[in-house]
Amino acid sequence: MVRQVAFSSDKNSRRRITVFDTTLRDGEQTPGVSFTPSDKIEIAHQLSDIGVHIIEAGFPASSADEYSTVKAIAAENLDVIICGLARSVKQDVDRCIDAGVDMVHVFIPTSEVQRIHTIRKSHEEVVAITGDIVRYARDHADKVLFSAMDATRTGIPELIEVYTAAVEAGATAINVPDTVGVATPTFMQAMIGALRPKIPVTIDVHCHNDFGMATANTISAVEAGADQVQVTVNGIGERAGNADLACTVMVIESIFGCNTGIKTERLVETSRMISRFSGIMVPPTYPVTGEFAFSHESGIHSQGVIENSSTFEPGIMTPEMVGHRRRLKLGKHVGRHAVREMLSQVHISPDDAQMDEIISRIKQISSKGKKVTEHDLYEIAETVTGMS
Ligand code: KIV
Ligand code: ZN
Repeated sequence: MVRQVAFSSDKNSRRRITVFDTTLRDGEQTPGVSFTPSDKIEIAHQLSDIGVHIIEAGFPASSADEYSTVKAIAAENLDVIICGLARSVKQDVDRCIDAGVDMVHVFIPTSEVQRIHTIRKSHEEVVAITGDIVRYARDHADKVLFSAMDATRTGIPELIEVYTAAVEAGATAINVPDTVGVATPTFMQAMIGALRPKIPVTIDVHCHNDFGMATANTISAVEAGADQVQVTVNGIGERAGNADLACTVMVIESIFGCNTGIKTERLVETSRMISRFSGIMVPPTYPVTGEFAFSHESGIHSQGVIENSSTFEPGIMTPEMVGHRRRLKLGKHVGRHAVREMLSQVHISPDDAQMDEIISRIKQISSKGKKVTEHDLYEIAETVTGMS
């Protein structure tokens, strides 16, 4: 039996998980994706409107355009914390501050492979740089997030040393990135479980999807005590992307019974907006926001959901909760109940023999690999029944 949590009906009394959205920063690192400044401002408004807590608006030191866009987003005065990314160098922190962000996110590689091949520093040097840069950032910003890049390929004792240096220098949150997506849910749970007692500030996680486990790893981190999740809309991001906002939020809300503050009924609309701006379409079978997430084709499933939607849907997540609608699909597995239900909505009521004929025609078309639309169904039914 799947574990079901008994939720308090008062959402505010539930455990709170903070949603940090990085669609505008890591999401824009998706190969081929480039948002215009006005797209970014529109996206920032949408994220703020649906209740995201922190928006990573970009990496101001990366270019003059990026700097001015982050500055423009910060100037919108949205009801959300605006964060800017910075390498562990003072000039990057200065660019974030000049752009007017509320939070500076500084990062440095901590795994051996990245330390040696990207910044050519020893572990001891990384610890010293961390303390210095976090202190500098804290002198200029109230909120400083520190990321140990490639944390999941770094030893736990080394990680604790780096994070402790960050916290002692004033970091208000630390992030545990699974930079190349190699963690598994049990690994992530163990890592966060080991860090949790040592870290007195917010623990944030940033999981990549190289093995398709970004959302699962993020969820495991929350189970082990992480307070904040980094996500992108539609899971876009570097290589195979990041944890998906909609999936992560729906597990946290519907299965764990925690409160993210997200207006979940706007998730599908938000997903479609990012598909439009990024040019990256969500596959129809994508969970939660995909076109088929609440579609049913087989006769047995359709009959079940017509009677009680929990028969072949999670039940704890309905289409309405995420801004979707339930659809009965017409294909070679279609059954009489679904067809009768769809026709009753347009006031066509075939008798049993007519129904056999309608079903047989649908199956003939779809067995040739053709799609049968609702419009096709109405035409077939009108021909067979003589009703129009
Ligand atoms: O994947 C990663 O490690 C990052 C950091 C900048 C947090 O995107
Ligand atoms: Zn990343």
